[in-house]
Amino acid sequence: MAEIKAGLEGVVVGQQDISFINGEVGELIYRGYHIDELAPSASFEEIVFLLWHGKLPTKQELDALKERLASCRALNDSQMKFLKSIPHYARPMSVCRTGVSQIALYDTSYQTLEVYERGTNLARADNILSQAPTIIAAFSRLRRGFKPIPPREDLDHAANFLWMLNGKDPSPEAVRAFDLYLVLTAEHGFNASTFSCRVTASTWANIYASVVSGIGTLSGHSHGGAVQAVMNQFMEIGNIDNVEPWFNGCLETKKRIMGIGHRVYKTLDPRAPHLRAKVQELSKLSDNRKWYDIAIKLEELASKNEYFQERKLYPNVDFYSAPLLYMLGLEPDMYSPMFALSRIAGWCAHIMGQYENNRLIRPRAEYIGPKGLKWTPMEERGNFGADTTL
Ligand SMILES: CC(C)(COP(=O)(O)OP(=O)(O)OC[C@H]1O[C@@H](n2cnc3c(N)ncnc32)[C@H](O)[C@@H]1OP(=O)(O)O)[C@@H](O)C(=O)NCCC(=O)NCCS
Repeated sequence: MAEIKAGLEGVVVGQQDISFINGEVGELIYRGYHIDELAPSASFEEIVFLLWHGKLPTKQELDALKERLASCRALNDSQMKFLKSIPHYARPMSVCRTGVSQIALYDTSYQTLEVYERGTNLARADNILSQAPTIIAAFSRLRRGFKPIPPREDLDHAANFLWMLNGKDPSPEAVRAFDLYLVLTAEHGFNASTFSCRVTASTWANIYASVVSGIGTLSGHSHGGAVQAVMNQFMEIGNIDNVEPWFNGCLETKKRIMGIGHRVYKTLDPRAPHLRAKVQELSKLSDNRKWYDIAIKLEELASKNEYFQERKLYPNVDFYSAPLLYMLGLEPDMYSPMFALSRIAGWCAHIMGQYENNRLIRPRAEYIGPKGLKWTPMEERGNFGADTTL
């Protein structure tokens, strides 16, 4: 009988050269560059180029990428009409998933949609990466009762998103904070959503379908859905004096603390210190330390607690992403879409990588159900009423 690893933990299912994670020491490397090397200087567009092409861009290459991305941002009338038809109570993550799926409908290279040529997929990746922020920003404004703001071609990716969200020039500090968030969350090995993208791509489904699979997988709270849950948890705690009683309550009721723990990292997530420092910086600038203080206190309590120590549970990327996005003025249910906007970069790199060396991903599971049952005619199945749990 085959050995079964629940949740595929520790199972190596392929090779890739996009990113490397060492969960024991807390190391994350994009295409050979340690995240600590990239975080202080890289822009999101540079990371996109690095992930898609395997090297840092020259100035000319970066300018060309920025120009291409900026030129793909605008939505067509049908897309805008669709966004206006969405009820205000829709979840932004559902809008993100459906809106990205919709981009495929207007691909003018439709006749070659089933062609997996790299140039075609790079153009499609540009489209997805550029239009997803426009979709999310437009929906955010519509549900707040405002008109969507068209994208600007003179702004970089992070600045343009904040512009479309608020209709005013974002501060350089806000742009840098959001850009840093995008840089740090752009790629992360064979995580659940990336694996999902690869499974879909392995059937030779197109890049749009593959990214949509990734968005669906990202939405759950064991993955990208946690970032919203983290902020809700900080709001529930409410003030610094309540952190300890709240933490003790979690221990008593065995409630999981969101933003803590990771399948791979058995130490502090290497993205967390960069985000923590940025939250501290934003807190000073805005003269509001509340969320930073709550997060720091909670991290400290968890780090000193035996339960968390024994299980090697430390803050993950979501723990400080939540207050960072909050301080940029985003509502908590927008956080998972923010994760998607950034991870599209990594997903597309993996999907293109999958096409280049493809074999259908098709694992097996051990069957533990019955065999040899005989068909029972309807009149012999009894009449005990419907099982409403089915
Ligand atoms: C990320 C996560 C899903 C990883 O899950 P996993 O690798 O399957 O680990 P498990 O669920 O098997 O947890 C291992 C042990 O740690 C405990 N644990 C894991 N995360 C915990 C948390 N956030 N709070 C309290 N206990 C936690 C589990 O209860 C389990 O304890 P046990 O051995 O006594 O049963 C998990 O840590 C989690 O749910 N974290 C909170 C949600 C979150 O932040 N998700 C974003 C991830 S980037």
